[in-house]
Amino acid sequence: MGTFVKIVASLVLVTACAQPNESSTTAELTAWDEALPALSSTCAACHGGSGQVAGIDFLAGSSSEEIRQTLIASGVIDFANPYASRILTKGIHEGPWFSAEQVDAILAWIESEQP
Ligand code: HEC
Repeated sequence: MGTFVKIVASLVLVTACAQPNESSTTAELTAWDEALPALSSTCAACHGGSGQVAGIDFLAGSSSEEIRQTLIASGVIDFANPYASRILTKGIHEGPWFSAEQVDAILAWIESEQP
């Protein structure tokens, strides 16, 4: 088992080093990369898991991908009907609400996740 872990770790390192100079352009950013900043800046203080105020941790996670998985599983996103997602219909309650641009980014992400 220990050897297996080492092999996997080496493979991850090799893969990570394969493209050291690749930098993302705006066009390469995924819809999630556009939506996450809106969520983390506006909602994560209370809905981010650790130190949360609300007890509703739909943004819990220590990486972008973990947060995405939490949010998908949380039930506050309605993939069949993005506009009806609880994350958007909840409306202002505590703290600031989304700007129109932030709503657009979140809707674009939800639509990008639709099968
Ligand atoms: C200052 C703390 C705070 C911030 C910031 C905050 N919330 Fe909340 N949120 C709460 C509390 C407290 C509750 C539970 C009470 C309630 O429902 O109002 C809650 C509940 C919720 C719920 C679940 C309950 C329901 O009615 O469905 C959703 C969804 C939600 N918030 C979305 C958001 C979104 C989206 C943002 C960012 C735009 C946000 N919240 C920002 C404190 C916060």
